[in-house]
Amino acid sequence: MSEPVQNATKDSEKGNEDRLKPKTIPWEIGNITKANIKQLRLINIHTLPVRYSDKFYDELLDRYDNKYLQYAFVNGFVVGAICARVEKEENLSYKKLYIMTLNVLAPYRRFGIGK
Ligand SMILES: CC(C)(COP(=O)(O)OP(=O)(O)OC[C@H]1O[C@@H](n2cnc3c(N)ncnc32)[C@H](O)[C@@H]1OP(=O)(O)O)[C@@H](O)C(=O)NCCC(=O)NCCS
Repeated sequence: MSEPVQNATKDSEKGNEDRLKPKTIPWEIGNITKANIKQLRLINIHTLPVRYSDKFYDELLDRYDNKYLQYAFVNGFVVGAICARVEKEENLSYKKLYIMTLNVLAPYRRFGIGK
């Protein structure tokens, strides 16, 4: 009779350990390009309270270094994006990275993608 109780205790301890581990999911980054920029508009509409103008999307790739315009992909599907730009102020010796938008679709949050 005592055997199942001991096993149950071990299972629940394992459960606690699992809950403490950070959740992970395989994902990768990829460039935002003219060919796929409509995905950015969609993800922004679904995750942000503000609406960006057509001008914002039209000018994004021409105005800013695409190193900082990136998607997060899971299984080939866009699940997140970051649009950032480098800013240099005259009186500062360093550059700043200004994040314009950062978003991850709700089902894919808390997996470390935004980080
Ligand atoms: C903000 C956002 C991009 C985070 O994406 P994510 O993939 O879930 O973030 P991560 O899992 O990488 O977590 C990054 C860090 O933020 C914390 N975090 C994420 N969501 C959080 C929330 N809702 N409240 C408090 N902290 C949060 C995480 O705990 C983690 O911190 P840690 O390093 O101390 O553990 C995502 O919640 C989102 O798209 N929100 C809606 C859009 C938005 O508000 N964007 C920001 C303004 S442009």
